[in-house]
Amino acid sequence: MILARGKRGQNAASRVQKVFQRSPCFRPLRDKYGNRLGEFLEGRVEVIDGDARKPLFGISEPLLDLVLEQLDAVVHVAGSPISTVTLVTRCR
Ligand SMILES: NC(=O)c1ccc[n+]([C@@H]2O[C@H](COP(=O)([O-])OP(=O)(O)OC[C@H]3O[C@@H](n4cnc5c(N)ncnc54)[C@H](OP(=O)(O)O)[C@@H]3O)[C@@H](O)[C@H]2O)c1
Repeated sequence: MILARGKRGQNAASRVQKVFQRSPCFRPLRDKYGNRLGEFLEGRVEVIDGDARKPLFGISEPLLDLVLEQLDAVVHVAGSPISTVTLVTRCR
């Protein structure tokens, strides 16, 4: 699951899709799967429209509960801090 935010009229899913299509990091996957990359990612990567700075990450409580049920680890790459208190208390 990737929590990302929309920007400049683009929703989170479109922004993440562009990263998969353009970022040098994903070149090996693009080389391997070519125009079937979308198919490969479908069901493996879920994009959630949220904002790490907002309370409950800007998503609804039921969605957050659903996410936390499936969560093993968090890789936080945003420069802004997140509420680890929210994560820890909610994961219990
Ligand atoms: N920049 C530096 O000079 C520097 C130096 C040393 C270490 N670092 C570390 O490297 C990491 C990345 O730095 P960065 O400057 O690229 O950070 P950044 O500007 O916060 O962006 C990193 C990623 O996090 C996303 N993001 C930022 N705030 C978000 C929010 N509130 N909700 C959801 N997504 C959010 C950004 O997406 P958007 O496109 O939506 O903003 C981007 O994809 C950080 O951990 C930082 O501490 C950075």
